[in-house]
Amino acid sequence: MRLLILGGTGPTGIKTIEEALAASHTVVIYARSPGKIPDAIATDPAVTIVEGQLTDREKLTEAMQGVDAVLSALGPLGPFHPSDTPLAHAYSLVIDAMKKQNVARLIALGTASMKDEHDRFSIAFSALVNSVAIFARGAYKDVVAIAEVIKSEGAELQWTIARVPVLTNHDTKEVVAGYVGDGKTKTTLARAGFAHFVVTELEKGEWYQKIPMISSP
Ligand SMILES: NC(=O)c1ccc[n+]([C@@H]2O[C@H](COP(=O)([O-])OP(=O)(O)OC[C@H]3O[C@@H](n4cnc5c(N)ncnc54)[C@H](OP(=O)(O)O)[C@@H]3O)[C@@H](O)[C@H]2O)c1
Repeated sequence: MRLLILGGTGPTGIKTIEEALAASHTVVIYARSPGKIPDAIATDPAVTIVEGQLTDREKLTEAMQGVDAVLSALGPLGPFHPSDTPLAHAYSLVIDAMKKQNVARLIALGTASMKDEHDRFSIAFSALVNSVAIFARGAYKDVVAIAEVIKSEGAELQWTIARVPVLTNHDTKEVVAGYVGDGKTKTTLARAGFAHFVVTELEKGEWYQKIPMISSP
């Protein structure tokens, strides 16, 4: 498949690109700061890099041409994230570009700040979400808004939001997928596990229109 990768300059995005390339996919990386992409990826013949902002509707639509699916590791950058939900606006443009180019599949990174009806109470996750809501208000608002945009504007797409807990750099690719407070999902996830989950989900399509919480075992 030809995949458009968003958030490919962060450590989770880089792992995702590596996993996609290892599974013989072709990759288009749409990034505002392509200088952060490691040389081994940038020089891979299966990789195309498009430099552009997530506010540039035309460039996004152009980059989407011939793409089979979009994988996104985009996420807010912490407590100083702006309060005007830039990433939710970006997803709105991404979804519009997908529709224009007949791209149906979107797998996006989310967090526990996005709620799901299958979630149960969990002290650990409540503490995580509350601390983000208090200390990183802009990030919290944007993450919640991202889910709303994907669900409403992407209603006709085959979307999956893979919600992540605290990310680690462990090597383990094994992932447990479920919901908050289900007794299976834990509070950490190796970035390699996120990458493995999304590339596997691309093949399996087990979580269409769902927002599972994924974690390392
Ligand atoms: N660290 C954790 O424990 C944890 C826990 C839960 C969720 N998360 C979320 O998981 C995401 C991925 O984490 P990470 O540590 O692997 O990577 P990261 O360094 O936070 O990477 C975020 C990615 O999103 C891009 N991005 C953010 N805002 C953007 C904007 N306005 N326009 C264009 N691109 C934008 C960044 O691009 P640039 O490189 O150009 O900035 C980067 O590629 C994080 O963003 C975070 O929200 C993290």
